[in-house]
Amino acid sequence: MRNSRIEVRPISGAGGAEIFGVDVAIDLDDGTVGEIRDALNEHCVVFFRDQEIDVAQHKAFARRFGPIFVHPNFATINEDPEVVMVRREPGDTSYVGELWHTDTTMVAEPPMGAILYGIDVPAYGGDTMFANQYLAYDALSPTMKKLLDGLRAVHSDIGTAGPHLGKNQGRSTKYRDDEGWRETRNLHPIVRSHPETGRKCLFVNASYTVGIEGMTAAEGKALLDFLLEHGNRPEFTFRFRWQKGSIAFWDNRSTKHIALGDTGPFRRLMRRVQIGGGVPV
Ligand code: SIN
Repeated sequence: MRNSRIEVRPISGAGGAEIFGVDVAIDLDDGTVGEIRDALNEHCVVFFRDQEIDVAQHKAFARRFGPIFVHPNFATINEDPEVVMVRREPGDTSYVGELWHTDTTMVAEPPMGAILYGIDVPAYGGDTMFANQYLAYDALSPTMKKLLDGLRAVHSDIGTAGPHLGKNQGRSTKYRDDEGWRETRNLHPIVRSHPETGRKCLFVNASYTVGIEGMTAAEGKALLDFLLEHGNRPEFTFRFRWQKGSIAFWDNRSTKHIALGDTGPFRRLMRRVQIGGGVPV
């Protein structure tokens, strides 16, 4: 029997819903978890307020939705490979999530989702925006859909990690940048089918997608430039304002997101746990 305490309130027409009546540290019974999963599938991102969770509780909540995903560009440099502390200090010139992206798509099996917890939140600024990639796909013309059908894009972490970038000095959350680092590169369909809802969504992003299989660099760039911009059209987006103790849990298969850079004089500290996913098809 499902837990009737859960209340799901949509925050926009494009997606996102706040969930009330759940303490994610203790309400981990099958019924509650099933309802949260249903809400995630329907709204693409779910939010919780006023939660108090330590690292172990954060991981336990994540594990109810799948195995924890260990990020290859943080694992060897972080104290806990299963956790990324997403930190931004005043004056940082670069930070995690600064471009519209889907997380970690350079790997063969990108995470199905991530759970981000607000620890030290700016008085204002630093919202996270999301873009619904089902809507982005649905809005394409039949001709464009036909062109994309069967096309695969190249995803790489060449723009986010590695010693060539020289970005770590300006960012409080460091990525791997040692000489032993090697690029991770994989191909994924440009349009994927969501494994739980069966719906099609656009699956390219500005942080990791670097080209299109079978096209010249110029052709791939022209098509990608259009798709990336199209995927962030305002009517596909919704925005979350953080408070201390807030949680955003996003479906990494059907959304892109961006952390806004307007934190000004404020520190911003979040804790992120990612959940393993499968091969996009
Ligand atoms: C991320 O991209 O995983 C971080 C998003 C955020 O800090 O709002």
